Amino acid sequence: MKEILSEFQGEANFFPPLTFQNLDTFRSFTFPYIYLYIILPLFNYKIIPARKKAFQLLNDHLAGRDSSKPLEVLEIGIGGGANLEYYPKNCNLTVVDKNKFFEPYFKQNAKRYPHINYKRTIIQCAENMTEIEDNSFEVVVTSYFQCSCDDPEAVVKEIIRVLKPGGKYICMEHVGYPEHTIGLYLQKLVYPIWYLYSNGCTPQRDIAKVIKRAGFSEVICKNYDFGHFMAYLVKHHLIALATK
Ligand SMILES: C[S@@+](CC[C@H](N)C(=O)[O-])C[C@H]1O[C@@H](n2cnc3c(N)ncnc32)[C@H](O)[C@@H]1O
Repeated sequence: MKEILSEFQGEANFFPPLTFQNLDTFRSFTFPYIYLYIILPLFNYKIIPARKKAFQLLNDHLAGRDSSKPLEVLEIGIGGGANLEYYPKNCNLTVVDKNKFFEPYFKQNAKRYPHINYKRTIIQCAENMTEIEDNSFEVVVTSYFQCSCDDPEAVVKEIIRVLKPGGKYICMEHVGYPEHTIGLYLQKLVYPIWYLYSNGCTPQRDIAKVIKRAGFSEVICKNYDFGHFMAYLVKHHLIALATK
């Protein structure tokens, strides 16, 4: 915590003038704590089975792989690293996240998973991953990230660029209700307030459509009903596995 606090002090100084930039930094600073200690514990009993299903699907499709060779994996929007325990054996992991305040939480968590060889964190927006070369990863992972990035189409285009031919993109996400439903109407209605309070999350996105249109050679989409009375606005979930 001391480390995280000193990062924040260095960034914004205490008692800074109240500007949008400082508010944004404050939001980025507090969001990891709120997400990891309030949101995830509340919904983990539903989210964890979804993570397991997604990685089961990925592992089934990696079945023929030579596990003596490390698997090059990129996780985008890793947050605190909630997927690490489901990773296949012998992975080289590179991480991209735009919020540097997640990094200490992620690094602490990563110590628990020695089967993953952590390579580096790139603090950058996934819409333009200038530090990553074309065709460099066998697997790209995103979870509960496509809802909050600025431009899902641009991100998926970047994912295709950095994947090796035949590489897999595994995506877990809460998505919008189908067209012409009250649920979708309500998602759009609450969106402006929801966006502010959940660090940029947009609940009504049709991420399956974005992935299917992006130009992968194969896309498998599975819908998953969150079915939680407290989570009417995030009821519909998607697990997608796309192959370049
Ligand atoms: C809701 S958290 C999900 C964290 C984690 N993937 C999980 O499943 O628990 C969203 C994460 O995506 C990151 N993020 C959002 N938009 C981003 C962008 N455009 N580029 C990179 N990271 C982004 C946030 O900083 C945060 O770490």
